[in-house]
Amino acid sequence: VEVRHRTLLAAHLTVLAAALGGAAVSSAAGDWTPAGVFVALLVLAVGSDLLALQVRGLELSGSFAAIILAAVVLGPAPAVMIGLAPIVVSAFRNPRPVAVLASNLATYATFPLLAGLAAGAVNLHWQDNVTLAGTTVFVFMAANLLNFVMIYAFWAAYQGWRWADGFRDMYLPVLPAQLGMAVVTTALIHVERVVGPEAIILFAPTILVFQWLLRTALAAYERGEQLVERNQQLAALQFGLISTTMKTLALRDRMTARHSAAVARYTREMAAELGLPPEEQEVLHTAGLFHDIGKFIFPDSILFAATGLSDEQYEIVRRHPEVGADLIAEIDGYGPVAKIVRHHHERIDGRGYPWGLSGDQIPLGSRIIAIADVYDVITARDTYRKPVSTSEAFAELRRSGGTQLDAELVEVFIDLVSRRGLMFSHSSPDDFEAELALERRVSDYAAPRAAVA
Ligand SMILES: [Fe+2]
Repeated sequence: VEVRHRTLLAAHLTVLAAALGGAAVSSAAGDWTPAGVFVALLVLAVGSDLLALQVRGLELSGSFAAIILAAVVLGPAPAVMIGLAPIVVSAFRNPRPVAVLASNLATYATFPLLAGLAAGAVNLHWQDNVTLAGTTVFVFMAANLLNFVMIYAFWAAYQGWRWADGFRDMYLPVLPAQLGMAVVTTALIHVERVVGPEAIILFAPTILVFQWLLRTALAAYERGEQLVERNQQLAALQFGLISTTMKTLALRDRMTARHSAAVARYTREMAAELGLPPEEQEVLHTAGLFHDIGKFIFPDSILFAATGLSDEQYEIVRRHPEVGADLIAEIDGYGPVAKIVRHHHERIDGRGYPWGLSGDQIPLGSRIIAIADVYDVITARDTYRKPVSTSEAFAELRRSGGTQLDAELVEVFIDLVSRRGLMFSHSSPDDFEAELALERRVSDYAAPRAAVA
């Protein structure tokens, strides 16, 4: 391997020397005038390389166009100088292995020399516009192919890269952009013929400024993309934390997990029955799922109390809607869910908690959850009461209508349950995981935010 690398290095240095020799021999005094054009193209080549844009792995730079312009408008020797200058400058900025540097120097001396010689042989200044255009595009693309072949030959020998991969992944994807650049270069040579060398002297700074602006815009765009991504990660993290809190509660209290899943499903069905849009249904479903999350602050003595609570314990119980709402309000965009959770223990007659809202002051979602909550508790098998039959449960809901519960919504609920035979009381605590569908939620939650931002 070591021997092969040395041979490769020697070969590249030989090619470089030959190209430099060819440039020196072919150099004529007239090739270097007007000096303004040479300087402008040199500045364009080096500046454009420094400002090179990386877009989706594709490097955009005006350096190649500057080399071809030099080859056509000036001659082979200036083209070689302009080809080598960016390589030398970048070698100082980020040092590369000697073998890589030699390969680049050999390549960027050879193809400008050949392009300059070819353009000189055709003597473009005596050609009509069509021949000029065709020849320039041909020289541009041939030089481009030679550039690729020489650079890739190095990597094929040095690292064993495969040619087929190189053509497919590196040459073909940039081909349209290169053709476009060839056409622009051709147009510029035409303008130079009509207007004079000033065209190129003016063109070089213009394209550099344009490239600098494009680069600044792209950098801002990428920062924006990163910001959106970070926001999504943050939202997913917040949601994950809330879900973990809920799961912790579910582990401690299997009954709450099952109950939450059941309330969430009843609530979504009610939302659909009332004709709410899918996003609202989703909000209500989530609120149903998390409505009792504030119970995680309960000690076991309250969470598993079989009999009446002391006044002190009852004060703690009454805090769970607010605690839960405050927790959920931490998640970006979950304000509506938090609001529903906050008021799920309000009563229609205003004697509920925490705020004592009455009637329509209570959010619709909270009024629905209150009904589902009562229904599930009295019909479920896992509560401490003996479960009542569906018809008894309906009667109890109707008795609470107008005082504790919204009487109209109670009728909708009874109609829905008797019609659809909704029966979640025998659902298992595992349903909580299914209702939570955490991964889908996190991705759903992230997706629309990306579109908004
Ligand atoms: Fe509750």
